[in-house]
Amino acid sequence: MKEVIVSMKNIVKTFPGVKALDNVNFELRSGEVMALLGENGAGKSTLMKILSGVYTKDGGTMTIFGKEYDNLTPKQAQEVGVAIIHQELNMCRHLSVAENMFLGRERVGTVMLKNAEMEAEAAAILNDLKIDINPRQIVGELPVSRQQMVEIAKALSIHAKVLIMDEPTSALTAKEIDELFRIIRKLKEDGCGIVYISHRLDELKAIVDRVTIMRDGQYITDGDFDSMTMDQIIANMVGREIKEQFPRVECEKGKKIFEVKNLNAGRQVRDISFSLYEGEIVGFAGLMGAGRTETTRAIFGVDPKTGGQIFLDGKEVRISCPMDAIKAGIVLAPEDRKKDGLCTKLSIRHNLALPNLDLVCDKLGVIRNSREDKLCEEAVKNLMIKTPNVEINAANLSGGNQQKVVVGKWLARNSRVVIFDEPTRGIDVGAKVEIYNLMNKLKQEGIAVMFVSSELPEVLGIADRVIVMCDGRITGEVMARETTQNEVLKYATEFEKKQVG
Ligand SMILES: Nc1ncnc2c1ncn2[C@@H]1O[C@H](COP(=O)(O)OP(=O)(O)OP(=O)(O)O)[C@@H](O)[C@H]1O
Ligand SMILES: [Mg+2]
Repeated sequence: MKEVIVSMKNIVKTFPGVKALDNVNFELRSGEVMALLGENGAGKSTLMKILSGVYTKDGGTMTIFGKEYDNLTPKQAQEVGVAIIHQELNMCRHLSVAENMFLGRERVGTVMLKNAEMEAEAAAILNDLKIDINPRQIVGELPVSRQQMVEIAKALSIHAKVLIMDEPTSALTAKEIDELFRIIRKLKEDGCGIVYISHRLDELKAIVDRVTIMRDGQYITDGDFDSMTMDQIIANMVGREIKEQFPRVECEKGKKIFEVKNLNAGRQVRDISFSLYEGEIVGFAGLMGAGRTETTRAIFGVDPKTGGQIFLDGKEVRISCPMDAIKAGIVLAPEDRKKDGLCTKLSIRHNLALPNLDLVCDKLGVIRNSREDKLCEEAVKNLMIKTPNVEINAANLSGGNQQKVVVGKWLARNSRVVIFDEPTRGIDVGAKVEIYNLMNKLKQEGIAVMFVSSELPEVLGIADRVIVMCDGRITGEVMARETTQNEVLKYATEFEKKQVG
């Protein structure tokens, strides 16, 4: 059997009001990929932050390469070869790729930093990984998926022997995921132990050897991936049976609610026309970069439009800023919840109340606490937001629960059109079903639902009609029940093919 390189026993960690880890056991061997699985808020990131020295444990023992550590610091962790790629990107956006990779361990000459040397080494590492990025490029100018690759290169540049990846694929394209898996396999051969956290259960089988399952801050079980069925894994994660991963409800298609005509905005939104009807969920499929997010932003008034019209219930509405859209009853749950969807430094209460001040204030403009309480209470109850109370900062919620707050703030309003952009990204299986049910509920109430998602199984499982985009244009429209993933993919790559051929 392979050597045990990390052993964590009875780990306890408490945050104010939350027992994040309650006697958790975890073991990692060299040359294996260990999937760490659990619902949002189960404690996965917290456990891995302890292993990488970001947090200090309150109790339990932690042994890394045979040595016990009580107060591991991030620097010590790095020295023993533990690297972590955080769930939320952790780059200095204004620094270059090479500067980020060597942050905190810069090569210092007699007077100045040895920039050329660091850049050359960064280039060598990137090259070795077949990642085509210039080490001099400023990180903030790279798309998120490329930033993610830099994080990975950075972790590798310290010659990690324990590599923790906390949801590395949540922002990657299919091609980049393949690239990542190739790198993971290579590291494995070199004897590196890898902890892999992901809510995309379908990708596990490509790389995972063993799994550890956590629930509510507790260790549930571990074992060989091959010895468990996906149903067993899911049942262990959520502690109950999930009957249907994609619960669809049937509704009669009603009248037209919303129409977009010849919308143009920048290069990524070209002549987009479509309608949404009562009683249906319309999925927007496509590859990353197809222009779906840009379309939602143009509709919602975040980005300027260069042409086109928007109609709600047959009347034209002019939207030049998000407030216009909100007033008209068109709301958006954006893709990047941390940057665009939440004020992470504010409490859940304030996040929920902020866009609804008109509802929580009285005639004199004074906030009525009772109204705010009611609004929060309903959001927490309807969406099952997992938190001790609503005074907690949004930053301290787990990823999935943050997403629920983003959606929750719109539910208090009588919206006509709700646009969801990748609403289930980074969300666990149980919470995904809750979000689907929420969309179903809106659909039943006669609200138009636009559902952008890069995961085809959920688009085909939840939407009624699917519009496919490629390179800023609509390239196809299909009925979800009658189509296949292949057909959708064909439309999603249509334009590229035309260009090549
Ligand atoms: N700095 C913090 N302060 C207060 N509470 C925290 C903090 N960090 C985490 N928590 C809480 O600890 C619990 C575990 O959170 P953690 O982020 O480890 O979950 P997770 O399993 O990584 O979830 P996800 O899959 O959503 O990323 C949650 O209830 C979370 O709200
Ligand atoms: Mg996490």
